[in-house]
Amino acid sequence: MKLAGATTLVSSGLLAASAVMAVPAPSISSPVHIPITKRNLVKRSGDDLLNWAFEQKAMLQSKYNLPSTSQPQRRAGAASLTNVQYDSSWVAPISGGTPSKEYYVVLDTGSADLWISDQYYTPSSSSSFQNDSSAFNIQYGSGSVSGYLATDTFSLAGTTVNNLHFAVADQVSQGLTSAAMEGIMGMGFQRLASSGEPPLWVASNQNTFSFYLERASLTSADQTQAGGIFTLGGTNSSLYQGDISYNSLIEELYWMVRLGAIGTKGSNVNLGSLTRAAIDTGTTLVGGPDSVVQSLYSQIPNSRSQGNGYYSFPCSSSVDATLTFNGMQYTIPDSDFIAGTLDNSGSQCLGAFFGLGSTVQTDLQWIVGDAFLKNVYSVFTTNGNNGNAAVGFASLANGLNSGTNSKSVGTSSNTSSSPAARSFGSAGVGAVALAVAVSALAAVLA
Ligand SMILES: *[C@@H]1O[C@H](CO)[C@@H](O)[C@H](O)[C@H]1NC(C)=O
Ligand SMILES: *[C@@H]1O[C@H](CO)[C@@H](O)[C@H](O)[C@H]1NC(C)=O
Ligand SMILES: *[C@@H]1O[C@H](CO)[C@@H](O)[C@H](O)[C@H]1NC(C)=O
Repeated sequence: MKLAGATTLVSSGLLAASAVMAVPAPSISSPVHIPITKRNLVKRSGDDLLNWAFEQKAMLQSKYNLPSTSQPQRRAGAASLTNVQYDSSWVAPISGGTPSKEYYVVLDTGSADLWISDQYYTPSSSSSFQNDSSAFNIQYGSGSVSGYLATDTFSLAGTTVNNLHFAVADQVSQGLTSAAMEGIMGMGFQRLASSGEPPLWVASNQNTFSFYLERASLTSADQTQAGGIFTLGGTNSSLYQGDISYNSLIEELYWMVRLGAIGTKGSNVNLGSLTRAAIDTGTTLVGGPDSVVQSLYSQIPNSRSQGNGYYSFPCSSSVDATLTFNGMQYTIPDSDFIAGTLDNSGSQCLGAFFGLGSTVQTDLQWIVGDAFLKNVYSVFTTNGNNGNAAVGFASLANGLNSGTNSKSVGTSSNTSSSPAARSFGSAGVGAVALAVAVSALAAVLA
């Protein structure tokens, strides 16, 4: 989602591979934990689902400055697509201003600016507001946010920063904000910030923050549901079990690590050199190079392209998708691999992995979002292995987001290439109509 970031996507050239290390959790001074609320979950299906998915991809391409591959939108419906963003984001309350007021923002590890809509933030109501009087702009695939830079006091999870740089957004494309999502707090590195200013976690000298992203219940009619816990300043040992496996960052811009392997049913596809992965809490699904994603779906019988990098497959399939980082293989349950159903009968499902484009990006090949992150406890730290910045993953504690598991597979797990089954053209998906539950379409955003 950045502007300036667009230019910083240039490779730093230091591509140290993530080393294999199992290290204790970073040391912390009193971590603070706050509930994350998943708001306005909307079950999406059929046309809405595809439109939503296409839109998310356009936004990601914009956010990461990837070349746009988008064909014309399959169908109109932009308004409802932007709506989906809110509905499926995990947002956290921050307080800001004097006297302080609460704002709900997406905590987005794939961007690095804080902005709040002026529909919700009123400068004249805060005695600590100071105007920087410089312009702020962010361009999304589906719209833009602009306003001006300012400073004020903000607190997140008990950490307060005075004179934090942020943007008051006075122009926000329709659908990018709502009462449920009043802005975005970027949790990436300062270098990624459009404003050039340090994000709150940097400004407050925190070296670690962690997420448990709780799944929404699809059987609940509540559009706002408990969404897990975000921890600033460390980890919460009651939320995970076993060791945290750290992946040293290959670049400090996004939280960029090396993807070891990706596969289905124990059979990995060939990644070649396409292994640079941004770990992005602000993205719902998992995007990767077209060629690899195609190979992955070719292992799922009767899968078929839905265009624009997306694929469908029979909902009854047992996909058993896995991602491997640093010799640890993590399973994505089929319920998370299903991004939604495409037909009335619920027989054709949209897959959560999609192709970002055919152009080989030298700097960024994978965007690993919530479809994966729901399945682990994730730790973002500048003080991981040997003091290196890293993203760590651990198994969730028993009882949290059931269905997740991980196992050690050694470090050569990124080799296997298995052409396996090709997708047969099978019966057309046909008219996409409304269908049933969409598995947590957590929003992209940002
Ligand atoms: C850690 O998480 C547990 C489980 O949600 C919660 O009850 C506890 O309050 C958290 N610990 C702290 C220190 O907040
Ligand atoms: C802050 O400065 C910008 C740019 O000069 C201006 O457009 C905006 O109205 C100012 N806001 C306030 C509350 O003074
Ligand atoms: C596994 O991935 C790493 C990093 O991309 C690469 O250097 C290595 O060659 C791969 N291993 C094999 C056996 O292909």
